[in-house]
Amino acid sequence: MEILLKGLLRLEYRGYDSAGEMRRLVSTHCLRRSVCMLIKQQDMDMDVEFDVHLGIAHTRWATHGAPSPVNSHPQRSDKSNEFIVIHNGIITNYKDLQKFLESKGYEFESETDTETIAKLVKYMYDNRESEDLSFATLVERVTQQLEGAFVLVFKSVHYPGEAVGTRRGGPLLIGVKSDHKLSTDHIPILYRSCKLLDKKGCPTLPRMEQDTCHTLFAEEKKSVEYYFASDASAVIEHTNRVIFLEDDDVAAVTAGRLTIHRIKRTAGDHPARAIQTLQMELQQIMKGNYSSFMQKEIFEQPESVVNTMRGRVNFNDNTVTLGGLKDHIKEIQRCRRLILIACGTSYHAGVATRQVLEELTELPVMVELASDFLDRNTPVFRDDVCFFISQSGETADSLMALRYCKERGALTVGVTNTVGSSISRETDCGVHINAGPEIGVASTKAYTSQFVALIMFALLMCDDRISMQPRRREIIQGLRVLPDLIKEVLSLDDEIQRLAAELYQQKSVLIMGRGYHYATCLEGALKIKEITYMHSEGILAGELKHGPLALVDKLMPVIMIIMRDHTYTKCQNALQQVVARAGRPIVICDKDDYETAKSSSRTIKVPHCVDCLQGILSVIPLQLLSFHLAVLRGFDVDCPRNLAKSVTVE
Ligand code: F6R
Repeated sequence: MEILLKGLLRLEYRGYDSAGEMRRLVSTHCLRRSVCMLIKQQDMDMDVEFDVHLGIAHTRWATHGAPSPVNSHPQRSDKSNEFIVIHNGIITNYKDLQKFLESKGYEFESETDTETIAKLVKYMYDNRESEDLSFATLVERVTQQLEGAFVLVFKSVHYPGEAVGTRRGGPLLIGVKSDHKLSTDHIPILYRSCKLLDKKGCPTLPRMEQDTCHTLFAEEKKSVEYYFASDASAVIEHTNRVIFLEDDDVAAVTAGRLTIHRIKRTAGDHPARAIQTLQMELQQIMKGNYSSFMQKEIFEQPESVVNTMRGRVNFNDNTVTLGGLKDHIKEIQRCRRLILIACGTSYHAGVATRQVLEELTELPVMVELASDFLDRNTPVFRDDVCFFISQSGETADSLMALRYCKERGALTVGVTNTVGSSISRETDCGVHINAGPEIGVASTKAYTSQFVALIMFALLMCDDRISMQPRRREIIQGLRVLPDLIKEVLSLDDEIQRLAAELYQQKSVLIMGRGYHYATCLEGALKIKEITYMHSEGILAGELKHGPLALVDKLMPVIMIIMRDHTYTKCQNALQQVVARAGRPIVICDKDDYETAKSSSRTIKVPHCVDCLQGILSVIPLQLLSFHLAVLRGFDVDCPRNLAKSVTVE
């Protein structure tokens, strides 16, 4: 029970508006479901003792049906809980399935798409043609009827001691804990329709290999524990050895033995799943002395950017090495254009680095929101290189865009923070940003590490260009001092808290800037919106006179970002335009910029860095500001309403 609750607590950041769990109580099943921040409110008591060796639990981010106990998972087949299932994702054909099941006499109690799965599995079990149908095969058959994206784990009274998990379009891993050294580091896949495939000439695993897999886990079954989870943070306190499942894998834990099945082997399938050892440590996913994960992650940035650069940037000879790209860099240098595709904060990292990418690669660079890119059916060519920037590596829109680009023959590059994530596995090559787990729903350290990773890529692209060397050296030396400069910005925390105390009762905040800092405006406004629920807008200062200036008066809070770069004079003009409309701008500027200070009602002075890295220093005051505003307004910074950390639905 404690294992399940702790696992939920660790996963709460992924979705937290309702929760449920199911354990086996001697011969019956006990199902409890609850709404809203379950762990904090201790809605699910721990006072009952259970004889349990297998349980499933779920926290939910509502897509179909409002948060309520009956809509929480597990969803069940019937009142006696014959089959129960937990589900992440969306079943797009659930209405058809529901209609079919209703015609067979099933009555639905919830508004969820998931309940159709629980009822469908019972229907298929009740109508099975043979008595010895295994749980894994039953699940496989159910998933063949489902459309959409799903990660599922099933339990049933008909298969005591068994759990079956499967995925399509969402993440699912299995933690493997054993006191014994495991005698293998991979699990061979069992293909169901081996005979059929044989006739068609498809390769299958030799029989012996399949048996080895069974024997291995049978021998060690007493000491092996398995944990199904959406991400590693739920299992890391038990084990750092995990298997990442692929789409359509069906994994069954039966009497302490793990088997992984697929219906058929297709070209390019790897016939085994590796047991990987993660570097993650428990401490990384704990809050420590901070009041929230977001605050901890903001203050981690001096180290997280170092971790992004570690072993990759050599400050002595001004070189950059990116192991994940080395086999593809020549091909990338020859490409037609670079397309950076992402959502939310990760998209802003693309906007922030676009200019330096254009400068150092001398290639056209497009930055695209994944959803819009797909809506437009954007033309993509074989000689395009498409980057997918994603902290989680699981964002459905970005993943769909990745598959779209792959189908069109483009080279795909992942920039992710999550080892083993779908985007990192499905891209041709990539860069892990190594920022460490990011738990706060509002992304902070991932943004600055994505920023650094993209700059490292730009530097690598021009490492043999003589004319670029002075600029490369300037940027690399900027990266060298960056961690100390970030520390200096973080020391402004008290000053920013005081500013927040003046602003927190306002309804709206405008953030203006241009050039390298337009992305800072967008990102700062997103941070304010998502955790303080204040209206905030990032405005390109060059567009001010084309409309947004009408919003400015003496009451409207305006934050401007003005740095000593090529846009400085134009930003000064924007500042004057705001002041002339009785605006009272708060300006984030270079610490020795006395000129700007004269026209500002208040300044936040940050240290100076090379122009293309300055955006990292200008965004941190806004991360801190949004954090303090949210705290002063009384909101839970780590769990903003209506949002989930990993958006695995389109
Ligand atoms: C905002 C935020 C989101 C994510 C977006 C993409 O603070 O976190 O906007 O940036 O949902 O997520 P990833 O980077 O995981 O693809």
